[in-house]
Amino acid sequence: MRKHIVAGNWKMNNDLPQTELLLTELLKQNQTSDAEVMIAPTFTNLWQAFESLRQESIEVIAQNMHFAENGAYTGEISASMLKSIGIKTVILGHSERRAYYNETDESLAKKVDAALANDMRTIFCFGEELQDRKSENHEAVVESQIKNALFHLEADAFKNIVLAYEPVWAIGTGETASPEQAQDMHAFIRKTLADKYGNDVADSVSILYGGSVKPGNAKEIFGKPDVDGGLIGGASLNAEDFYAIVNAF
Ligand code: PGA
Repeated sequence: MRKHIVAGNWKMNNDLPQTELLLTELLKQNQTSDAEVMIAPTFTNLWQAFESLRQESIEVIAQNMHFAENGAYTGEISASMLKSIGIKTVILGHSERRAYYNETDESLAKKVDAALANDMRTIFCFGEELQDRKSENHEAVVESQIKNALFHLEADAFKNIVLAYEPVWAIGTGETASPEQAQDMHAFIRKTLADKYGNDVADSVSILYGGSVKPGNAKEIFGKPDVDGGLIGGASLNAEDFYAIVNAF
């Protein structure tokens, strides 16, 4: 049985007081679904969030990390630094990182390796741009993103990999992939995994959908058989909206 996961990506939002406020609001919410719940605050607030949620069922995760263990990489954070404050999961390859910070499939492959070497779980993001979908190239784009960054891994590594399909045209735009578009792509992703690693691996990997998931559309999207959860941006900044999504399972 695949895990249901709902992860909130706070991006570059919330200073320390705002983080404390949102954590307080999150802890007032009731969870009625079986989903694993995660939040990804910005680096400066990870420790505070981790401490506040130590006894709770919300996992605090990181939005990014560097592939090196340490060294002359001004402004960067390593897997072991994250681990040393209790963080066990990292989001890698978000489209904003790819677009604004030149992250490539090749550099992401190194980051995935670094996360795995540190026994960290990765939520690996990928997705096509609008022109790829218009030219019906979306499956080829997604296939190459997955192959280039992940297909050097052994099957066993996928125990620590969660995939997040996020069509770039749906992120922060209010435009969502239809539940059918999400399902079609998730089924394609699972088949791509099955072709390389076999059905056992393909059937065990959780595939999240991300891109303008809201309380009003989560149920329909999560109702699709190959959609195992969501990576939530904007709506994760409001505790009630976020839990409405968590409870959409
Ligand atoms: P959004 O962001 O929910 O605001 O569209 C999703 C994401 O970037 O992960």
